[in-house]
Amino acid sequence: MSELKLVQHVVVPGTFDPITYGHLDVIARARRLFPQVTVAVAASVGKNGTGPVFSLDERVQMIRDTLAESQIVEGVEVLPFTGLLMDFCQEIGAGGVVKGLRAMTDFEYELQQADLNYRLRPGIESIFVMGSPEFGYVSSSIVRELAYLGSDVSFLVPSVVERRLHERFGEPRK
Ligand code: COA
Repeated sequence: MSELKLVQHVVVPGTFDPITYGHLDVIARARRLFPQVTVAVAASVGKNGTGPVFSLDERVQMIRDTLAESQIVEGVEVLPFTGLLMDFCQEIGAGGVVKGLRAMTDFEYELQQADLNYRLRPGIESIFVMGSPEFGYVSSSIVRELAYLGSDVSFLVPSVVERRLHERFGEPRK
C-alpha cells in the first residue's frame, strides 16, 4: 500500500440558495473533523435561465456573514466556483468533500454523485455526515417558498439570511 496521506482540507459544496441551519450544521461538523474547510458555492446556472434566486455574490456573502455571526471562522473559508467540483477540489488542494445526509431520499442521489466524482478523481474522498434530526426537513426551496408566502422563517435560517429574504420577498405576516 502506498504511503497514506491524511486528509486535512475538505470542501463542503452546495448551491446554498440560501444557506440554512441544516447547511450550517454540516459546515460546523466538517470543521470539527478537519482542520481546514472550504465552503464551495456553486454558480449553478440553470439550463433555461432558471438559476438560483440569490446571485453567486449574495450567496457567498450570506454564508460569510452567517459564519462570522456563528463564530465559525477559524479554518473556514468561503469561495465561489464554476465548473466541475472535482477540478475545484484539485485546484485548492482539498482531499475530500463533506456532505450532509438528511434522509434515505438523499442517499441514492448522493451515492450517484459520489460514484461519478470517484471516477473523475479517485484520490478525493466523499465523506458524509448525518444531519442533526432537528434539521432533517429543512431545504433551501422550502425556505424560499415559506418566505415568498409571507411566513416566518427564523426557525430555519440564520438572522443574516432572514433579513435578506425579507428584503427580497417582503416582511412576514404577523
Ligand atoms: N441541510 C439542508 N438542506 C440541504 C442539506 C442539508 N444538510 N443538504 C442538501 N440540502 C438541500 C439544499 O438546500 C437543496 O435544497 P433545494 O433543492 O430544496 O433548494 C438541495 O438539498 C440540493 O442542494 P444543493 O446545494 O443544490 O446541492 P447538491 O447536492 O445538488 O449539489 C453541487 C450541488 C454544487 C455540489 C453539485 O451540483 C456539483 O458538484 N456541481 C458542480 C458540477 C459538477 O461537478 N457536476 C458533477 C457532480 S457529480
